[in-house]
Amino acid sequence: MAVRLAIVGLGRLGYEHARNIHYRIPGAELVAICSVVQAELDRVAAEMSPALVTTSFEELLAWGQFDGLVIATNSGTHAQLICAAAAGGVRHVYTEKPIGMSMDELEQIRAAVQANPGMTFQVGYNHRFDPDMMEAKRRIEAGEIGRPVLIRLVSRDQKGLEEFIVKFSPTSGGLVADMMTHDYDTARWLTGGDAVRIFGLGGVYAFEGLKAVDDIDNAAIMMEFSDGTMVQIEASRTSPYGYHAPAEIYGTKGCLKIGENSWKNRMITMGEGGVSRVCTEWFYEYWEDTYRAELADFVACIQEGRTPRVTLEDGYKAVEWARVAAEAVRTGEVREYTSQFTQEGA
Ligand SMILES: NC(=O)c1ccc[n+]([C@@H]2O[C@H](COP(=O)([O-])OP(=O)(O)OC[C@H]3O[C@@H](n4cnc5c(N)ncnc54)[C@H](O)[C@@H]3O)[C@@H](O)[C@H]2O)c1
Repeated sequence: MAVRLAIVGLGRLGYEHARNIHYRIPGAELVAICSVVQAELDRVAAEMSPALVTTSFEELLAWGQFDGLVIATNSGTHAQLICAAAAGGVRHVYTEKPIGMSMDELEQIRAAVQANPGMTFQVGYNHRFDPDMMEAKRRIEAGEIGRPVLIRLVSRDQKGLEEFIVKFSPTSGGLVADMMTHDYDTARWLTGGDAVRIFGLGGVYAFEGLKAVDDIDNAAIMMEFSDGTMVQIEASRTSPYGYHAPAEIYGTKGCLKIGENSWKNRMITMGEGGVSRVCTEWFYEYWEDTYRAELADFVACIQEGRTPRVTLEDGYKAVEWARVAAEAVRTGEVREYTSQFTQEGA
């Protein structure tokens, strides 16, 4: 029997999730779509013919003829939708990151999910599904690079999106919460630990409009992790050459590098201006396969009754960390971090 999925949010990423479910995940069926934007509904309904098309999340929950829900709405709505889904008896939920925007929301989500034992709850930290990242983790755990000393993770968005980013910022939580939680999550997953001390710098280097919404366009954060590993993460909205996400894990016996060259294709152009290559244009292009893989794994978790690879605890800690890290960047001071997350019944 196919796993019947509903999706809420059909914007930039939601549309791609819908396409992955419909075309690229065997065993999954897109049965319901929900968005507050009618044009998005019309487009997906015409292309994929789901059984239910609605602007109302309440109507979707009341209809209820689906196994799992994919949440891809704006970040500020996630907590409310997750809690409503859990209260409405939805047993399997995948949500885009971040799960919530405040400590209150994190606690509401924790209570709602933990009140439903056995609920599949997966968070969209898709970098964990990158085959090279997975291989790096395997090699670290096999001891191939000795003790990890320094992990460097970089995310540079192509420039040219100033207007979009300034508009997007108030609902995204800003650069640290929106972009850097991916890298924090990857570092947690690679090391198996958490940050204990955080120091960061950042500012507005190009997108002047971000000042009015209290956001920044570039940041670099340095951390000490619980096992002593140093982790440095860098994020930029202003890369002049395209999307670039190199990673390096340097250990006492070796070093792993991923994505150093972010080529769009295998073409090299040679001309009077010299030799050049074209770079990946945007994040979706670079991580495309991981978005399919994470939803395919969500479907497999439902089928097999398995715990997802990115859990409530991971989603909770990423947001919690972002709040401390943003404060470290804002003040320029070293901040200590201890998680408040508690397991069910603790
Ligand atoms: N994992 C990643 O790499 C990644 C990348 C980009 C965005 N995201 C996350 O995905 C989410 C969506 O981002 P986006 O860029 O697609 O945003 P977007 O603005 O393009 O799309 C948001 C969608 O949500 C819908 N929506 C909002 N509130 C709704 C509600 N109450 N009920 C029904 N529909 C509602 C809108 O109609 C729209 O379809 C954000 O949380 C963002 O952080 C994750």
